[in-house]
This record gives sequence, structure tokens and C-alpha cells, in this order.
Amino acid sequence: MATFTERMGPVLLFWLGLCLSGTWAVDKGNFKTCDQSAFCKRQRAITPGESPYRALLETMELTNTKLTLQLINDNNKVRLLLELYRLQGNITRVKINELKPLKPRYEVPDVLIREPPTEPLSLLSQDENGVVLSLGAESQRVIVSARPFRLDIVEGRDVLMSLNSRGLLGFEHLRMRKDTFSYKVTSTVASVWDNIKRVFSSSQADPEADNKEATDPPSQVETTKEEEEKVEDGMWEETFKSHTDSKPNGPSAVSLDFSLPGVEHVYGIPEHADTLKLKTTDSGDPYRLYNLDVFQYELYNPMALYGSVPVMLAHNAQRTTGIFWLNAAETWVDISSNTAGKTVFGKMLDYVQGSSETPQTDVRWISESGIIDVFLMLGPTPREVFSQYASLTGTQAFPPLASLGYHQCRWNYNDQEDVRAVDAGFDEHDIPYDFIWLDIEHTDGKRYFTWDPHKFASPKEMLQGLMDKKRKMVAIVDPHIKVDTNYKIHNEIRSRGFYIKNKDGADYEGWCWPGSAGYPDFTRPDMRAWWAGQFAYDQYEGSMENLYTWNDMNEPSVFNGPEVTMHKDALHGSWEHRDMHNLYGFYVQMATAQGLIERSGGVERPFVLTRAVFAGSQRLGAVWTGDNAAEWDHLKISIPMCLSLGLVGISFCGADVGGFFKSPSSELLVRWYQTGAYQPFFRAHAHLDTPRREPWLFGPENTALIREAVRQRYTFLPYWYQLFYHAYQTGEPVMRPLWVEYPQDPATFALDDEFLLGRDLLVHPVTEEGARGVTAYLPGKDEVWFDIHTFQKHNGVQNLYIPVTMSSIPVFQRGGSIIPRKLRVRRSSACMEDDPYTLYVALDNRRTAEGELYIDDGHTFNFEKREFIHRKFSFTNNVLSSVNLEPDAQFTTKSWVERIIILGASKPSKITLRTAGKLLVLLFTI
Ligand SMILES: *[C@@H]1O[C@H](CO)[C@@H](O)[C@H](O)[C@H]1NC(C)=O
Repeated sequence: MATFTERMGPVLLFWLGLCLSGTWAVDKGNFKTCDQSAFCKRQRAITPGESPYRALLETMELTNTKLTLQLINDNNKVRLLLELYRLQGNITRVKINELKPLKPRYEVPDVLIREPPTEPLSLLSQDENGVVLSLGAESQRVIVSARPFRLDIVEGRDVLMSLNSRGLLGFEHLRMRKDTFSYKVTSTVASVWDNIKRVFSSSQADPEADNKEATDPPSQVETTKEEEEKVEDGMWEETFKSHTDSKPNGPSAVSLDFSLPGVEHVYGIPEHADTLKLKTTDSGDPYRLYNLDVFQYELYNPMALYGSVPVMLAHNAQRTTGIFWLNAAETWVDISSNTAGKTVFGKMLDYVQGSSETPQTDVRWISESGIIDVFLMLGPTPREVFSQYASLTGTQAFPPLASLGYHQCRWNYNDQEDVRAVDAGFDEHDIPYDFIWLDIEHTDGKRYFTWDPHKFASPKEMLQGLMDKKRKMVAIVDPHIKVDTNYKIHNEIRSRGFYIKNKDGADYEGWCWPGSAGYPDFTRPDMRAWWAGQFAYDQYEGSMENLYTWNDMNEPSVFNGPEVTMHKDALHGSWEHRDMHNLYGFYVQMATAQGLIERSGGVERPFVLTRAVFAGSQRLGAVWTGDNAAEWDHLKISIPMCLSLGLVGISFCGADVGGFFKSPSSELLVRWYQTGAYQPFFRAHAHLDTPRREPWLFGPENTALIREAVRQRYTFLPYWYQLFYHAYQTGEPVMRPLWVEYPQDPATFALDDEFLLGRDLLVHPVTEEGARGVTAYLPGKDEVWFDIHTFQKHNGVQNLYIPVTMSSIPVFQRGGSIIPRKLRVRRSSACMEDDPYTLYVALDNRRTAEGELYIDDGHTFNFEKREFIHRKFSFTNNVLSSVNLEPDAQFTTKSWVERIIILGASKPSKITLRTAGKLLVLLFTI
């Protein structure tokens, strides 16, 4: 859902100062650059190589589980406390806080799934320059250097990672404000007047700004030039456009640099509309992590988007590592590299001339408040990094099987008759789907948990109609609550004191879809429990078991707020919104998912889609990439955007099929269905103002092409389901970059146009307009790849040119794999429950293959009670056998294996089946 520009009145336009230019590009002026963000500018101005921080070795304490050590800033004598932990599974945790902060600084709660278990640390050596600690059994050590302070993590002779090696550690200590008024009487009266005029004009331009401060007389007078400049720096107050951010706590930023020797490729830190391999930021802005509702976002830049996951992966042919910066305040990430811009030839020349230095990537993290709490995940393989990160923040929620089917959405399906007709259209055109979605217009005046009394007068009848066809619905529930004393939800939240407060202590109000809205404080467990209760069948009128939920606008989006979000000085109890902004959406989804679980008495798995995410959101449901556009570049960017989210644990990702804004050509729409059919969350969605685009509206040929793409999705549902089960168990991404499986092959390190699903399906969708062919990179020098449509066999390693027509979706199955499919496609996934399986056995060069099959009821938590079937298939010496991977698990299914397709085998004379001691001769064809 977009921000308001096209729909709200002129009052709002005035406040935000936007104009409707009719162009389809983000108005960058609405969002801050690093230079316009005072703390980012201050921290980025720190000069490398001059760190004032020194480790006070005499303060060192080493217990079995942690090292503590004080650091001192020699410029201002403020002391910090460093804590270092060795965590289980090759993770080192480094925490830095003020030794004696004026008041507590925010530490992110609820994201770690538990207090991470530690392992013993031991002292190897110590002198006046530093200490060396052993990190457990491996040959890994931490070297703490005292002057200036720096940390190096080494294994054998290799430095894996260095902290503060460039001397960019910054920690703004909390301090008393020397003045109670930020505009001081100085030697030049003119500059005072400039300041005062500026305050008045900005507070008058913003109807919400509080101008009390500006009218109070200064109670103290300070005259130093230096402090005046600090005020200009925005330490105690900062103005952007018409908004003034009061900063009662003053400067509180933290920053730290990390050097990664030997690394040229870093990934992650979603969400950005950018390439998979992150770019260096020396010549522009850092990547920004600040959850924002960006209207008509632009591609290939580091601007913030709806979600923020502060996790970066570093990879080279020898090793993968990760950095998890656990901080929920606005954050910026700078990346630089000593090889950036050098061509392969240039690097070669350096090498020949003996002038080549080791490649190195340096990153610097800057956050506005909180503490430094960073987890260094040392790999060494991609799988180990995934498992390390999962041990901290959990794994992907195991979704209901139906949610892996196709979702039909638009803003809006107008009324019950519309829903009925669209539903019937799918049957008429023989296209399967599982969920139909309702956007904000289904409510009674944007009051969530209600239905429009005219258009959706009998929601249960509508839901029952869907249920009869084994289909489901999603209705939107956003976190902005209409301020309306006739609205029960609002009254209850207000009377319980659950709204976020503004800086003066009154309920915070902002503009959003319903007009004036309050924002519940989802950081409060009691608020979340109350919210969860609203999903009970007897509370949420018109709801039924097949109604699920979509949380949009949960950055949160505030149309008249600074950068279209909440004021940073709004209050969550004693914490400022500034401290935890990036967590808000995470909590909204948490409370909603909890509601869906509770309404079924803990039996049913929830399905909740969110737009805003943080680290840990993978535990709660699905995410989509927000308000994209019907443009070819937006189709292309869906690949790196979902890959980046997958790398940081969030597997259940998709982009609006067809593009949200604008209207796709039929070619683009078809290509988007073909791509979306092979991405984890498969939903078509469209803006209110776009022409209708149900799959059958583009002529019979295009209907057939879309039908075929959706049907392919349904045949692969057993494989998708098994991949999600695996993601739930291990944290490994479902949709993954090729380098995850071929970590030593540099040709896979920066691919943006193809991806793997699990290990075994390689997808290179057609994302170019008018394409006659695509070139897919097939990795693995011992691998063979089978075209899933023609069964043609291709060897890795090669760049394979594939001629394409409009019906082509280039997908390859890896030789050596066995993939279960269901070929009898029906109305919905639930209708296919008892259908038989076909096993696709693709042989490798040694004529072997293996794969798995996972089956359970598809929708409850009973799999946690070991009610499932998990089998492993292997093919060797011309025998296909099956073993039970979990003999103590129990589940009964009516489905069976009806067909086995063997790819890459030579013609047999006879095929027999051995089961329960009996031998049967089977039919076969070639
Ligand atoms: C820890 O790292 C060592 C050395 O790099 C590696 O051999 C080991 O498998 C890793 N263990 C885990 C649990 O990741």
C-alpha cells in the first residue's frame, strides 16, 4: 500500500510539502541523506587512524564465560566497558557500553531467542601492549591491543576480522545539557536572531511542532563558539524539512569499523533495492537501515526501505563470515574496498608487477543510539553462518502448506460479489489459487477488525464459500488505529493507556489511512497480549478459520511525520521511539501471529504477511518487498532483494507479481508470473488506480501462459514444503544465491539474474523485454543439470545460451537429486492433499541421486509432536531405495508414489519393486 499522495487531501500535501508531479520516481528530498542526519554526519567525519580509545589492561577481568575490560577515550576521559563472550558454535560477541551512563542505554530485547550459551575463554598471553585469548578448541584467538584499542580475531595465521583497526570507534556518552535552551546569546546578536527565526519558522510550518521551547526565555547564557557549533551539529535538536526532532538525551550515537582481510564480496543488510553484492559507498551515501514507507522507491541505491536487518555476510573462496549488529535505532553502513573499481586486468597487472595487496573490505556501522552489541559469526562455511545466525535469532517459521500456493490480491476487491466472481474466474480458467486478499477498503472506514457494512455485509458467508472450495482469505489489519470514540478498538487501547505517547506525554497522533490515528505501543507485552486477543473468533466479528492476516504500514507509516514515519522523540514508556524504531514492525507481526495461534487454541500455524522487518522476523511469517512498479527493472530487482533477505534468515519473501504501481504489458505480466512461480511468496497485487489484471484478462494465449506458470508452481509444492521444513530446522535460505552451494567458484559471487531453490533447482527466469534467449550459468565442474521441461542434460561449468519463447521458464534440476512433485494440479493445494507423488530422479555422473520427502497435515503444529513422515530416497547401482529418516515420527497419509521418472539413465530390461518381502515387476516407458 502506498503512502497517501494520490489519495489524501490538500492539507496533508501542504504538511509534507510534496507535489504531485506525475513522474514515477521517489521524491528523494523527503528522505535524509547521511549529511542531513546529524549523527551520521558527525560519525562519518571521524578521521581514520586517530582513535582516542585505549584499553585499560589493569581493569581486565576474565571469568570462565567472559572477558571485561575498560576502554578510555583519551580526549574526554569517558570510560567504556567492553564485554567479550565466546558463544557456542564459533560466534564471538562484543558488547560495548558506557561504564557509567547517565541513564541506561537501550539494549534490544526479544530478538535473540535466548541468552546465547557461552563457551570457556582462556588467556594465552598478556603484556603491557595487550592480551591474547583462546577461543575454544579451534586455533582461533582474539588479540586485544591496548593502544590504541583494537580487536583482531585470528585463526592460525589468518586474520578473520579486525575491529577498530581503522580507529573509527565512536561512542557519544550521555551528558547533561549545559544549557536549557539551545539558542544562546553570543557575541553576534545577528546569529541569535537567525537561530530564533529559524526555530519560529520551522515550528509554524509544522502544526505538530511544539513551540513552547522557542518561546521560553533562555535560562542560562553560554557564549563559547565551540558549543554554538555543536548545537548547529544537531546534537540537542535537529530540523528536517518542517519537523524538529527534540533530543532531550542529546547525542548518543555509536559506531565501529570492521576490517575483513581477503574479502571482496559482502552481502545482506536488507532491505535495499540494490544488487546482491553490496557496493562500496565511498562516493555516495552509506546503506541506510531505517524502516520507511518510501513512495515509489528507486532502484540500485542505498536508500532505506521498509525493513532493516542489520546482518552482513562476507564471503571469499575460502571462508564465509557474518556480522550481526544488534541495534534497532537508525543505522548507516559504509563499505569500502581496496580493490573496488579495479578490473580483473588491473588486478592481474598488480599481481604480475608484484604490487598486489591482499584484497580487503572495510565496513563501518553507525547507529543513532543504544549500545554496541555485535555478534561475529566466524563460519567457516555459508551453512555454518546460517546456523550460527539461527542459533541467535531463530529460524524461518514453518508456514502452512497452502501459503506456498498462489495468492490473488489487489487493492481492492470491492465487495463480496467481486470476491465471488474472481474466485469463480479461477475455476472457469482452470488456474489454481489458495488465497484471495482484501486490502484496506474492506473495512468500515479503515477501522481494522471491522467490515464495510454494505460491501461486506456477510463476511462469514463469503468465507464459507471459499472454505467449501478449500480456499482461504487474507484481510489487512494495520497498526494505525482510527481516533474515533465510536470505535471499540480505539477506545480500549486509549483507556488502557496502550498508545505510544508524544514527547509531552499525550497519546501520539499521526495521519494515516483512517485520518487521525493512534499507534499502539507494540513493545509492551501487555499490549501485544491484548492485540492477540482481538483475533479471537468471538472478538473479530466475521472471522473464521480460513481468514488470515496482513500487517502493512508497520514501519510505522505516518503520512505527516518526519520522513513519513514516527517522530523519534515519541515515547514508549521511558524509551524514545528513536531507540527502537526498526523493531516496531517486528512487534506488530509478533502480536498478530500470536493472535492467530491463540484463536485456534495453539493448534494452527499462523500466516501473517508483514512489510516492515527486523532481525528475527523470520520466526513470524512472510514478507514482501513493498510497493514496486510494473517495470522490467522491478521484476529483475525482485531476485537480489529476496536473495538478500534469505541470506539473513528471512526465506518467505516475494515481490508483488505484476508490479504494484502502473500497469504491466501482457509480456511483463506473463514474465512476472513465470518468475514469481519460482520465488517463495507468490502473490499478485495491484494499486487501486490500475486497470484490473486477473490472469484471464489478457487474451487466451496469455491466460494459458499464466495458467502454465501457476500450475508449475503447484506441481513443485512438495519440494517447496520440504525446503521450508528444512529452513525451519536449519535457518538455511530456501531461495539462495549460487555461491552458497558453490562457495569456491568466484563466477557465482555476483549473480543477480539467477538463483537456486534449495540445492537442487536452478532458476534463470526471463526478465528482459523481448528476450529471444537467456544465458544461464550452470555451476559445478562435476555437476550435470537437466532442463526440467525437455530433460536435456547439460554439463557444469558452462554459460549455457537458452533460446526462449514466451512459454519458457528456464529451470534445471541438479543431477544427483530426487525431487518429489504432484502432477495432478487442482483448484487449491488443499484439494491436492491426498494426491500421489511423482519422483523426479536426476542422476549425476556416477549414476546416483538422493532426495527427501516430507509430509504432514500441512497446517497444524502437530509436526512438533512428531506427527509427520520424513523419508530419504537414494538411487545407487540401479536401485532406488527409501529409508525413514525419523523412525519415531508417525503420520498417516492417503497419498502414494505413483510414478518415478529417472533422468540420465540408460534403458533397463526390467524394473522390479521390492516391498514387504514381495517382488513386483513394474511397467515402464522410455
Ligand atoms: C568452527 O570453526 C572451525 C574452524 O574454522 C570449524 O572447523 C568448525 O567446524 C566450526 N564449528 C562450527 C560449529 O561452526
